[in-house]
Amino acid sequence: MKELEDKISGANSLEELEKIRIELFGKKGVIAKKFAQLKDVPNKEKKAFAEGLNKEKAYLQKLYDEIYETLKKEEIERLLKAETIDVSLYSNLESKGALHPVMETMDKIIDYFVALNFSVEDGPKIEDDFHNFEALNLPKNHPARDMQDTFFCKDGRVLRTHTSPVQIRTMLKTKPPIRMIAPGAVFRKDYDLTHTPMFHQVEGLVVQEKGEVSFANLKSILSDFLHYMFGDVEVRFRPSFFPFTEPSAEVDISCIFCKGDGCRVCSHTGWLEVLGCGIVDPNVFDAVEYKNVSGYAFGLGVERFAMLLHKIPDLRMLFEGDTRLLEQFR
Ligand code: PHE
Repeated sequence: MKELEDKISGANSLEELEKIRIELFGKKGVIAKKFAQLKDVPNKEKKAFAEGLNKEKAYLQKLYDEIYETLKKEEIERLLKAETIDVSLYSNLESKGALHPVMETMDKIIDYFVALNFSVEDGPKIEDDFHNFEALNLPKNHPARDMQDTFFCKDGRVLRTHTSPVQIRTMLKTKPPIRMIAPGAVFRKDYDLTHTPMFHQVEGLVVQEKGEVSFANLKSILSDFLHYMFGDVEVRFRPSFFPFTEPSAEVDISCIFCKGDGCRVCSHTGWLEVLGCGIVDPNVFDAVEYKNVSGYAFGLGVERFAMLLHKIPDLRMLFEGDTRLLEQFR
C-alpha cells in the first residue's frame, strides 16, 4: 500500500502518472489482480477482504485525482508561459501587402487620363438593357448583341458586359463637354487562357461641340497613351466595327515580346491588339438627346495590359490568389 502511494505521489509528469494509472487501475493492473484473489479467500473472510480492497482502491483513486489536478495545473501554466505572445511586438515587417497587379495597372492607366483632365466616372455592375445595349445602338435582335456573352439576371437586367453603359449614364446626368474615363469590373461568359468571366475595363469618352473632335485627336491621344504604358512600341489603327462608334478601329501595338518578328504570344503576326475605339455613332447621341456634338470613345481590358506588362502567361492566374504569384509584385 505505502509502495503504491509513493508511486502515485512521485509522478513528475502527466505522462508518468498515466503510466502509473494503467499499472494500478488498469484491467490487468495491481488492484484488479488483488480483486482476482477474492475467489481464493475463505467465504467467511470474503466480505472483510473485499471491503478492505475497496477502501484501498478509493484511497488510491483520491490520491491519484489530487496528483492529477496538481500536475495538470502545472502543465497549463507551463504552456501558457511557453506560448505567450507579446502583442506589442512588431510583426515581420517584410511581409506587408501590396497592390494586386490588375489594380496597379488600373491606377497607372487612370493616372494618365487624370493628368489630361479626364473625370473618373462610375456606374452599377448590374445594368439594365437600355444602358448596356439599347442606348449604345444595340437594339433588341441586333446581331451584334451576340458579340457579348451576357449573364442575365432573373429580372431581365444583366451583369454589364462592358463599361460603355457608363458613357450613357454620364451623358444623361451632365451636359457636354465631357471628358471622362470609367474604370471597373465587367462580366462575360468566357473562361480560357486569355478570358475570365469577370475582368476590368477602362472606358473613355470625349464629347465636344460638333466639329471640335476628330479621329486625328483620338489617334493622337491613344498613341501617346500606349507609349506611356508600353514604352517604345509601334502603334497601328485597324478598321473594325462597334455598334456605338462609326468609324471604329482596333488598336495594335508591335509585339513587346518579339519586337514584331512574330512569336507565340502575337500568333506570329508581330502585333498585339490592345484597344477598341471610334467616333461616337450619332444614334448614341440621339439616345441621350445630345444635339450638335461630336465625340470619340475607347475601351480597353486592364487584365490584358497587366498580362503584357508583367509577361503573365495565363490570365486566370491573376484571380487564383496564389501568394507565390502575388509576392512577385511587391
Ligand atoms: N465596349 C467595347 C468592348 O467591350 C470597347 C469599346 C469601347 C469600343 C468604346 C469602342 C468604343 O469591347
